[in-house]
Amino acid sequence: MQATTRRARKTGSSGAQTTLLEFEPAAIPPAAGNTIIFPPQDVFDTLKQIREPVAATILDPWYNKGYGGTRPDYHEWLCAVLKETARVSNHIFLWGFPQIVHKALDYLPKGTKLVAWLTWYYKNCPSVIRGWRSAQLTCLHISRNKAKLYPENFLNHAQKERFENGKMRFVPGPPSVIETSLLVGFVGRKEQTGHPSQKPIKTIEPLVLMATKEGDTVLDPFCGSGTTGVVCRDLGRRAILCDASEEYTRMTEKRLGVKRSTLPEPAPILARDQPSKRNPTRRTRKMVRKRK
Ligand SMILES: C[S@@+](CC[C@H](N)C(=O)[O-])C[C@H]1O[C@@H](n2cnc3c(N)ncnc32)[C@H](O)[C@@H]1O
Repeated sequence: MQATTRRARKTGSSGAQTTLLEFEPAAIPPAAGNTIIFPPQDVFDTLKQIREPVAATILDPWYNKGYGGTRPDYHEWLCAVLKETARVSNHIFLWGFPQIVHKALDYLPKGTKLVAWLTWYYKNCPSVIRGWRSAQLTCLHISRNKAKLYPENFLNHAQKERFENGKMRFVPGPPSVIETSLLVGFVGRKEQTGHPSQKPIKTIEPLVLMATKEGDTVLDPFCGSGTTGVVCRDLGRRAILCDASEEYTRMTEKRLGVKRSTLPEPAPILARDQPSKRNPTRRTRKMVRKRK
């Protein structure tokens, strides 16, 4: 995909020439570098800038419970995010609390399906709530119909050899429960960035392995501290990262040692119905003849 800044005038199918009226952000090539960090912006602006399908998208927004606050229209907002993401991504991984995120299953975008209900199981939540202590988060794996899966990415060396020699009857998949600790206190100290909702690398790694091959592009429009970027860098995938917060964008830059990209100049939204002199419509041709 080309980084297009459509400055030129454009002739529509009717032959009418279009003129420049307002501006919209230009397309960003997903493969311009191994890691692209956008300047801080809203998820919908990021999705608008992806004009060519990416292999997978990680959606890890605030969860409408606890840190990040709540919004009354969360469900509608989330479904709109899903719909826009399905336009540009073969696989989608949607994180959230099970009691909240399950509602999205009744409103999956057209042409997509649930591949798997994944659970992140952590034992070390330092909750002081009386009763059940939270120990799980859900990740819905949604994909466009026919999107490819790569369970062979989980094979060890010996298994891979057998697989490549056609000596394996089936490829054993990884479990749908990801068991790894929350990054709190002394746990995962080296990995901790200070982001209040940072995911451990081990929760994102299996998602990227299952849905992509080397060189593929992964999008994360709620990138937080940039965990997806770290996973993609280590696995040889390309990453497009963005977060609405200036603070977390800086955190991601620092963690990955990559500066944010400057968005190309905005591209014009084209207004129709300006008759072209070079390629006149039938109506304008008639008008020109009359004038003569
Ligand atoms: C759960 S955190 C993501 C954590 C990330 N996966 C990590 O491992 O660091 C959610 C992030 O979404 C960002 N965010 C919230 N609303 C947003 C929006 N409308 N558009 C883009 N980012 C948003 C927040 O700033 C926050 O960093």
